[in-house]
Amino acid sequence: MHAIIEFHNVSKCYNSTPALSDINLTINKGDFVFLTGPSGAGKTTLLKLIFLSERPTEGEIIVNGVNITRMKSSAIPHFRRKLGVVFQDFKLLPGKTVFENVALGLEIIGLNRKLIKRRVWQVVKWVGLLQKIDSYPPYLSGGEQQRVAIARAIINNPMLLLADEPTGNLDPGLALEIMKLFKAINTRGTTIVIATHNRDMAETFSHNIVALSHGRLLEHSHLSAS
Ligand SMILES: Nc1ncnc2c1ncn2[C@@H]1O[C@H](COP(=O)(O)OP(=O)(O)OP(=O)(O)O)[C@@H](O)[C@H]1O
Ligand SMILES: [Mg+2]
Repeated sequence: MHAIIEFHNVSKCYNSTPALSDINLTINKGDFVFLTGPSGAGKTTLLKLIFLSERPTEGEIIVNGVNITRMKSSAIPHFRRKLGVVFQDFKLLPGKTVFENVALGLEIIGLNRKLIKRRVWQVVKWVGLLQKIDSYPPYLSGGEQQRVAIARAIINNPMLLLADEPTGNLDPGLALEIMKLFKAINTRGTTIVIATHNRDMAETFSHNIVALSHGRLLEHSHLSAS
């Protein structure tokens, strides 16, 4: 079985207005996919359906072989442990240090202190922020904060990493650095889905592009390498 995400005739309405209409989509394990489309196209909605922060109005969604469409709310936290998420606005806790922000995902699963410390240091070092490990997010640059958010998202070795406009608030140089990190994470086996309205960036970094417009799937192209 190669598919990690399957959408079967999925629609999502907000107050009877469709945000996504009849989406059929398969994303395979190990893919590096960009979800593109203009503002309001439904990119964030599609990610929310995978993360189960929204439920589809119609259709079925399968993630890693499990039909999550009607998953009980009580099962969602366990399901989310296999996912990593990165948001445009980082969503870091300002009153906690870099170490503490990244450690949260391991504390939740009850790992012991020593293992948490070792793993957090390893990942924070990997994103290049060891010198800031005791800093608080408000004292970090945008690119540094985004690297903390990425460290937090990958701390549990997720099978799937979802990112919503992860470079939307960064200058082009920093955006490039962040995209290289995502590439490296993908090379280690994690499937990655990144929502962005920046089609040029999508085409620069992947050949696997899903384009939405007004809630409909316009294309899913596997552009050949040039
Ligand atoms: N919670 C909500 N309640 C009502 N309507 C919503 C809600 N969330 C999204 N929508 C609507 O659904 C449509 C798709 O929104 P979505 O956020 O998925 O778009 P997007 O492609 O992520 O856009 P952007 O590039 O601006 O982030 C929009 O018309 C939006 O107004
Ligand atoms: Mg969005």
